Amino acid sequence: MPAFTATAPGKIILFGEHAVVYGQPAIAVPVRQVQARAVVQALPGEKAGRVHIQAPAIQVDARLEDLPPGHPLPATVSETLKELQIERLPACSIRITSTIPVAAGLGSGAAVSVALIRALSAFLGCPLPDERVSAVAYEIEKLHHGTPSGIDNTVITYARPVYFVRQQTLQTLALPAPFTLVIADTGVPSPTSLAVGDVRRLWQAQRGYYDPLFEAIGGLARAARHALESGQPELLGRLMDANHTLLQQLTVSSPELDRLVSAARKAGASGAKLSGGGRGGNMIALVGADRAPAVSAALLDAGAVRTIITQVAP
Ligand code: MEV
Repeated sequence: MPAFTATAPGKIILFGEHAVVYGQPAIAVPVRQVQARAVVQALPGEKAGRVHIQAPAIQVDARLEDLPPGHPLPATVSETLKELQIERLPACSIRITSTIPVAAGLGSGAAVSVALIRALSAFLGCPLPDERVSAVAYEIEKLHHGTPSGIDNTVITYARPVYFVRQQTLQTLALPAPFTLVIADTGVPSPTSLAVGDVRRLWQAQRGYYDPLFEAIGGLARAARHALESGQPELLGRLMDANHTLLQQLTVSSPELDRLVSAARKAGASGAKLSGGGRGGNMIALVGADRAPAVSAALLDAGAVRTIITQVAP
């Protein structure tokens, strides 16, 4: 029996996290060094509907029906079946593995969904097009964190740099030249849902303060698109620094993130900021390719638990 395998990359937000939930533009890129993988294989001789699922990273080794209600894995399976208008899965095993750190702003939840939707729909003989994969993954994102903008499922499904505005047609970015990022993990897990929920409560209590912050972040994302498409890395770095300051004002930075951001700047990064929901998780530094090892070493010295050097290519 053939196995149906699909993978999906991690992602990083370059500009516009949080503000994107409120309709502002944001820029995100795939991170191919880390990925989620789903493998679906028929279990001949077993009763239809019998599904065994393994996801060692989150200690799942169970029958699908035995997972608690609201668990994202059975939800992904049932949303995929709904999309395909298929009532019941043939007996099968599903194995999910991932090298994307969880709760770190790298899109682990969305990548697992995208890989599973693709592998399942291929197993069922109806591979879904990207647009539908992303739409189904968005339904699962809502379970993970209530009011997602949709940027994570979009950049991970299309695996291309995107300029994203909620509820608008996808815009991929034309990059004239590759550039290098160092991504550093504070080691502090921070589920996106908590930071997004906190920001929502702050905004509800004081819209007059937070709306202009979101608008200013959106302005930086627009300027960054221009800087990226016209190949101006120095300007891009300054825009990242400015975005980090606004994210501090949104209360989503942390002492660990601030320490890594300033270590990266001291080591020669042209700009640095937290990335994703914040409060922990990852930060990013824009570097010349030759400075990447030194900036990475400085980040590890300053307490990062892991760094990834990644080239963002057109
Ligand atoms: C999460 O990767 C980015 C946030 O803006 C949330 C979202 O857009 O759904 C914090």
